[in-house]
Amino acid sequence: MSKKVTAAITGVGGYVPEDRLTNFDLEKMVDTNDEWIRTRTGIEERRILKGEGKGVSAMAVPAVQEILKKKNIDPLEIDCLICCTVTPDMVFPATANIICDKLGAKNAWGFDLQAACSGFLYGLTTGAMFIESGRYKKVVVVGTDKMSAIVDYQDRATCIIFGDGAGAVLLEPNNEGYGVLDSILRSDGSGCSYLHMKAGGSVKPASIETVMAREHYAYQEGQPVFKFAVKGMADISAELLENNNLTGDDIAWLVPHQANLRIIDATANRMGLPREKVMINIQKYGNTTAATIPLCLWEWENQLKKGDKLVLSAFGGGFTWGATLVKWGY
Ligand SMILES: CC(C)(COP(=O)(O)OP(=O)(O)OC[C@H]1O[C@@H](n2cnc3c(N)ncnc32)[C@H](O)[C@@H]1OP(=O)(O)O)[C@@H](O)C(=O)NCCC(=O)NCCS
Repeated sequence: MSKKVTAAITGVGGYVPEDRLTNFDLEKMVDTNDEWIRTRTGIEERRILKGEGKGVSAMAVPAVQEILKKKNIDPLEIDCLICCTVTPDMVFPATANIICDKLGAKNAWGFDLQAACSGFLYGLTTGAMFIESGRYKKVVVVGTDKMSAIVDYQDRATCIIFGDGAGAVLLEPNNEGYGVLDSILRSDGSGCSYLHMKAGGSVKPASIETVMAREHYAYQEGQPVFKFAVKGMADISAELLENNNLTGDDIAWLVPHQANLRIIDATANRMGLPREKVMINIQKYGNTTAATIPLCLWEWENQLKKGDKLVLSAFGGGFTWGATLVKWGY
């Protein structure tokens, strides 16, 4: 009897821009202070992508190239690339196409996937199913966001949270049970009113009035988002453990979306995991939306051991949320 094919993560890459925006820089831009930001969010600085003509593809390409280089893979071998982002280079064409072109991935097809901060988990689950089906052998999932392009640096409650970055993983078939083992994904469109961009879509196309009203920035009501995020991320992570007959003791690492340190702590507590088992880099990068989880994997890659069980967990605008169980394959 042939074993079930799973989608193993076989490589990780990441990219963060050089320019830093510290809490002290923000003190000069809005009425805030380092102490407030650190105690309320855990963030100390974020990276900002600067330079004319640079969008999310400029960060995604080096992140994917890092994997290709480490694994000695020709870009022509990539079958499919899923680009998870809320800040595409352009509304169309899909940024996935632009990334594939820049990589020289001429045999790949791809598409953009928009699920805000849960984008990477949606993309990972989708990419894993393409591998499990037996149809594709090399699927790249990249989470890349240039939040500085849509953040209102006059809105002190929102601009302190976000930063720019990209992270990517390569998925390949595995016959020994490594890779994506289970995933729970959820969405609730009634959460739209708390976190969205008011103009620039088909409901309210761009006009001089929408620009003047600052409606092309991310609008967020922090408190309700916080409440939903704490419950959503903690509940779904606990549910994933329960469905797989696991406890916190079985988990080597929690890889949480990095939105707010208090949300991360609540999720870890609910799962019975000590801080040492939680990947946290929010202090350096802030919330990079679809990039937070792959950026954690990138940073912790050398500490991961074959067979480690990881829970990846996220909550984002939409609302969207989810948790994914991964058995590390190398
Ligand atoms: C945005 C967020 C950090 C705000 O923290 P909070 O503890 O909820 O703060 P509140 O919004 O209740 O505001 C508390 C006070 O701080 C003030 N405040 C807001 N931003 C501030 C800032 N940057 N500096 C100083 N004071 C600030 C508010 O005006 C308010 O003052 P008031 O009490 O006089 O009215 C928090 O709500 C959050 O992290 N939400 C979730 C965000 C998130 O995860 N988003 C991405 C989706 S995954």
